[in-house]
Amino acid sequence: MAARGRFITFEGIDGSGKSTQARLFHKFLRDNGYASILTREPGGSVGAEDIRKLLVEGDTGRWSPETEILLFTAARRDHLERTILPALERGETVLCDRFADSTRVYQGAARADLRSVVDQLHSLMIGREPDMTFIIDMDPEKSLTRGLARNSGEDRFEDFGLPFQQKLRSGFLALAQEFPDRCHVINGQDTPAGVHAQIRPLLMPEL
Ligand code: TYD
Repeated sequence: MAARGRFITFEGIDGSGKSTQARLFHKFLRDNGYASILTREPGGSVGAEDIRKLLVEGDTGRWSPETEILLFTAARRDHLERTILPALERGETVLCDRFADSTRVYQGAARADLRSVVDQLHSLMIGREPDMTFIIDMDPEKSLTRGLARNSGEDRFEDFGLPFQQKLRSGFLALAQEFPDRCHVINGQDTPAGVHAQIRPLLMPEL
């Protein structure tokens, strides 16, 4: 059956505020009578949440970039099969906190120069792009402080440090130029309500 719902992703560097925006839009859609689910990567299904722990905890050298690509893709495949596609088929809007663009930027550009490996594995195992992507752009110095202050125990990627976050930011901005039809760069240096107000007319022009 062809997927009918809309698949929306939120992307950005660590601590950019994308998870807050995904949550706000989930509430906004529900309040306006639209069926939607809020999900995240790595994770979003039972198996993928198990894989998540392997990826976000522990020291920076725990995995090579190549192994990370395999783990993120394994988690994504399970998430797609069990959570995303069934919801789209039910006609629901899927709001997803990170998706394949994160692998393109984190593993494909910032951790290592492995974009072609990421792309090959994506077309082999995932083969699905979001309908719309919001890239929350943020000064890495500010977002890193915010991210580490959370003390979540999931800081493996934050622990790569500021130059890594700067590379990520350029990677996301380059990605927005590569996929201009679906990517919108949003200024994240605003209050949550201010960022929400930037996204809302793009996501729901009818409301
Ligand atoms: P996330 O829970 O979104 O962290 P945060 O809320 O701090 O942004 O994602 C966990 C980490 O995994 C994050 O540092 C980004 C990283 N990541 C990748 O490196 N590649 C990927 O494909 C994905 C989905 C996430």
